[in-house]
Amino acid sequence: MSKFNTLDDLKQINGKVVFVRADLNVPAKDGKVTDTTRIDRFVPTMNELADKGAKVVVASHFGRPDGEKKPEFSLAFIAPELEKASGKKVTFIDDCIGDKVQAAIADMKDGDIILLENLRFYPGEEKNDDSFCKELAKNVDIYVDDAFSTAHRAHASTAGMAAFVPVKAAGRLMQEELDALDKALENPEHPVAAIVGGSKISTKLDLLGNLVKKVDYLLIGGAMANTFLAAKGYKMGDKAMVETGMLDTAKQILANAGKCEIVLPVDLMWVDEFAEGQPARYADVDALPENKIYPDIGPKSTQAFIDVIKKCKTLIWNGPVGAFEIKPFDTATNAIAQAVAEQTKAGKLISVAGGGDTVSSLKKAGVKADLTYVSAAGGAFLEWMEGKQLPGVKVLEK
Ligand code: 3PG
Repeated sequence: MSKFNTLDDLKQINGKVVFVRADLNVPAKDGKVTDTTRIDRFVPTMNELADKGAKVVVASHFGRPDGEKKPEFSLAFIAPELEKASGKKVTFIDDCIGDKVQAAIADMKDGDIILLENLRFYPGEEKNDDSFCKELAKNVDIYVDDAFSTAHRAHASTAGMAAFVPVKAAGRLMQEELDALDKALENPEHPVAAIVGGSKISTKLDLLGNLVKKVDYLLIGGAMANTFLAAKGYKMGDKAMVETGMLDTAKQILANAGKCEIVLPVDLMWVDEFAEGQPARYADVDALPENKIYPDIGPKSTQAFIDVIKKCKTLIWNGPVGAFEIKPFDTATNAIAQAVAEQTKAGKLISVAGGGDTVSSLKKAGVKADLTYVSAAGGAFLEWMEGKQLPGVKVLEK
């Protein structure tokens, strides 16, 4: 973390106005938070700043109101949730720039916390507009970014405003994310394996391109494995999900893998209908029955993936290996998740996972807490795995 200031580097926080960019874009239904993970993981930063006597100004986006004040996207309902999670008073201010905010800041005592209204109620946020950046930065002494999951957006609060604040630092969650990701891909213990799943090669081209350069084993599951298998000449039939336009690309990826060993499934589950409760039957990839659907990898492939994981010291995982939302298509994902959890608990593996579906599949398998690190980010995790520089991380560099 020496590339970034952290809260440890901030001397004399007491009495300072600290603007903290959080990602409170939480899943919600009918005005109720359905998953408090992002709130719970942000609270240590907020509490640490308040306990050190800062005047803490918390800001976030929520949803995509497209630059307009739409009440259904108000952050008001998050203030009580923050209070519950932190045990501190959090005052909601129904704007994020302007007189109301300035008056609230002027009234704050050391250790007070305010939560601003949705940043995306102003078009200047997503446009990273200079005058909006200056408004956000007005009377702010320190900028703390704790929103890794929004760091792939070059917006005013995640990137632009940092230029108008004298001191900046990563919050604890940002610090944790950057440390974990560094250990998984930038400076990992080898051998390193990556599991990549999902339905389309076309959406993960950059990811695959970056990973073959960095990992020792690339384990490919999910429907995208069908396209690789078809590229290798296996007959997948008409009902299988195959991206026919990507066959040449898949061939190129396989041909240019260099020292990275790409491990493809050797057997697949097959069913007639993509529906819950289908009997799970399996076939080797060179003897697939005609015109079936392949919603999961088979037991031989599962074991082969687990054998590689057992040889590795580091694993990075993005994408379930089957259509895990439907039973029994979650069979292989569950078995691999269990093996990853066991290796990690035994101290033999550093395991890092991220992405919405991956996190849901780990939760469903009951092992989310057993991995070394599960990222709170979706899109940002993916872009980071693609090797892209994230604007919200770049601005924090010393
Ligand atoms: C997320 O949920 O991935 C982040 O909060 C970013 O949200 P966005 O995709 O609307 O920018």
